[in-house]
Amino acid sequence: MSSEEIRKSFLSFFSARGGSAFGGKGKGHMIVSSSSLIPDDPSVLLTTAGMQQFKRYYTGELDAEKDFGTKNAVSIQKCFRTSDIDEVGDKTHLTFFEMLGNFSFGGYFKRESILWAYEYLTKILGISEDRLTVSVFSGDDSAGEGKTVLRDEESFNIWHKEVGLPKEKIRAMGRADNFWGPTGSEGPCGPNTEIYVDGVEVWNLVFNEYYCHADKTLKKLTSAGVDTGMGLERLVSVMQGTDNVFETDLLHPIILKVYELAPGLEEKTARIFADHMRAVSFLISDGLKPGNKEANYILRRLLRRLIAYQIKNKINPAIFKEIITLISKKYSPFYKEIENYGKIAAVAEEERFLFSEAMEKGLKELESLVITGAQDSFRVYSTFGLPFELQKELAPEKTKNIKKEDFEKEFEKHQEISRAGAEKKFGGHGLILNTGELKAGSEEELQKVIRLHTATHLLHQALRDVLGNEAGQAGSDITAERTRFDFTFGRKLTPEEIKEVEDLVNKKIKEDLQVSFQEMPKTEAEKTGALHFFKLKYPEKVKVYFAAPSGKGINEAYSKEFCGGPHVNRSLEIGEFKIIKEEAVGAGVRRIRGIILP
Ligand code: ALA
Repeated sequence: MSSEEIRKSFLSFFSARGGSAFGGKGKGHMIVSSSSLIPDDPSVLLTTAGMQQFKRYYTGELDAEKDFGTKNAVSIQKCFRTSDIDEVGDKTHLTFFEMLGNFSFGGYFKRESILWAYEYLTKILGISEDRLTVSVFSGDDSAGEGKTVLRDEESFNIWHKEVGLPKEKIRAMGRADNFWGPTGSEGPCGPNTEIYVDGVEVWNLVFNEYYCHADKTLKKLTSAGVDTGMGLERLVSVMQGTDNVFETDLLHPIILKVYELAPGLEEKTARIFADHMRAVSFLISDGLKPGNKEANYILRRLLRRLIAYQIKNKINPAIFKEIITLISKKYSPFYKEIENYGKIAAVAEEERFLFSEAMEKGLKELESLVITGAQDSFRVYSTFGLPFELQKELAPEKTKNIKKEDFEKEFEKHQEISRAGAEKKFGGHGLILNTGELKAGSEEELQKVIRLHTATHLLHQALRDVLGNEAGQAGSDITAERTRFDFTFGRKLTPEEIKEVEDLVNKKIKEDLQVSFQEMPKTEAEKTGALHFFKLKYPEKVKVYFAAPSGKGINEAYSKEFCGGPHVNRSLEIGEFKIIKEEAVGAGVRRIRGIILP
């Protein structure tokens, strides 16, 4: 059976109407689309299971009958499990996967769940009964007051007496294996029974009888519910008789494409490429952007791992776009949001564009870098863009004494500094500097923004030197990552012109010009020839920032502009400037993106 047939058969098995409530043909579940990978539940970072979007139906806050016309639902849910990132590369682990699940919110319970699961596997998929074994919850009476749950005799009896599985095929296991939930810090939970095919776990049937509080005490739910989950990739692998999930029709085309673009790649790396590319495509298509915190950091971590392998293996960077396009085409019949591969690839590409140079340097220097504590490790992340986990992966010896918690503490310290600053200055809007043109979220970002700001002034003058005075500022936007400068000019710049502008900026940086300002009436400032943005209305008194050789005044300055600052004191502080993109943004207006190398 193809994965497509399996998808269809699952949904139609549970959704078909008619027949009796038991057995028979109709199970009458409502088909509910997958929810986003970015959940509206603040207790989790990403969607990890099919039940997540239904949490409030179990607790009775929402009424399934009202919303779905029935107490029972079936879905194929996009899931992401961070806990498996480091395992990817073996035969079964994936970060992103799809989960087939049937759910009941006070409708049916253990008996129907077990009988239907058995019916689906043996009758619809035709898996022979001899290949199946199951597990049930063994109970625990040592869990403490308010936490104890008894052995699940009921499930055992259904498997043994009704289904007819011999006792030796039913294993009783404890909390770690046969008690599920909650997702996040609290939520519905309960004992489960798991079904194995040839010893491989495929289906988890959870009987949500309790609400688990943050202190781990359990409270009986007013009506018990069912939450089942079966990983699509693993099931397809069983059905297609493949040795691993990467040989299924879901992932094999992606693997083949990876090898086509990167022949000779190690098997593990090829699998990481296939898995992570699929994961980032789905995460980005749900609106996630790479960043330094929470879910955004997870996306960044995956992207940077891909970028690192792409650099290390000298793979043409076109691999990103090619694979994303393939994934988008393959999955858009089931998930409309993944259709726009151009947009998805652009997000991945921007990350690569902005960081691959620093990362390449970081990868090269990883040998000689000194990493003795979490502080160093954080510095390697902030300077070279190498996430903690990647440092561990690529320099295991060096980082072996550094713990994730300590790295996170460094991270938090850094965030606290920025938050404190933010609250002081902007009442908690998350930015410590926001002039409209310049934006920074932390002290560290502020330093970069300031360097880029002065670089932008030099860039403005250099453009005029190379292209003539037609090149005038039309807008600018500066963040810690880049400057984006718009200017009037009638045509595309040649590569030679771009190089000339870039070289000129770097030459001026190396001259170590002194940057200072003078405050003066607007009319007088205009007479100095200082550049300004004609669209803007300036106050009567303005500041003119200028960059001139030491000891020289505004009249001998290389660059002078109406500006509120802030700027570096000396141009050498900027470091190396690089133009990364030149493009049109409108008729007669061009846009340059520039960065400074760390
Ligand atoms: N929610 C259960 C799981 O994810 C079914 O395994």
